[in-house]
Amino acid sequence: MRLAVNIDHIATLRNARNEGAPDPVEAALLAERSGASGIVCHLREDRRHICDKDLEMVRAAITTKLDLEMAMTQEMQSIAIRTRPELITLVPEKREELTTEGGFAIRSLFKPLVEFVKPIRDHGILVSMFVEPEEEALSLSKAAGADMVELHTGRYSLCAAASEREHELERIRTAARFARREGMAVVAGHGLSVVNIAPFRDITEIEEVSIGHAIIARAVFIGLPAAIGEILDLTRR
Ligand code: PXP
Repeated sequence: MRLAVNIDHIATLRNARNEGAPDPVEAALLAERSGASGIVCHLREDRRHICDKDLEMVRAAITTKLDLEMAMTQEMQSIAIRTRPELITLVPEKREELTTEGGFAIRSLFKPLVEFVKPIRDHGILVSMFVEPEEEALSLSKAAGADMVELHTGRYSLCAAASEREHELERIRTAARFARREGMAVVAGHGLSVVNIAPFRDITEIEEVSIGHAIIARAVFIGLPAAIGEILDLTRR
């Protein structure tokens, strides 16, 4: 199973000071050197983390693949066509949310979605849709022109009880099988971490996982001893 690394929260940290560090491009290159099969950026309408310049620079720097997560707006369609990521992932976006809260509402948006996706695919960009692990959403994704789907694992990641978690996992397994039978590639993402990723190894229909927050959060603690040690080395008398 491949891993695509979402670097949004490197930009969140950079924006706390707005002085350039940590640099999302450096993070993207380090992720690639560490084994990531792709880099994911969500260019939100409010630009709260990744901004247009980051996207441009990450596009120019990386050598794996760029997955641009974006809302279904004209502005984002133009940016996608100009930036040429290998892949876009359509996500629902609400300004007040802290993170993407659910799958894309394909049924209600079906007609405009078909129109929206066409010019993007015509430019050779693959299209993925971030959807709930449900048959209807998957069939509609296929009908709208999706090359792949990303199954929303947010609900799974929040399950406290083992029985609930197993139930969610079963929904994900069934959805992954169905999507593959429909001829779409299958990715999974949202809320995945070292704590809950293991069962995905056995769902062979899922070819990639997309992970952001948990990797960046854990990197802080794994990296903290080395970062403190560096300063101590430089200040020791
Ligand atoms: N996939 C999609 C479509 C997302 O919107 C996000 C969050 O930006 C992720 C994956 C990554 O989620 P997390 O940061 O919880 O790993």
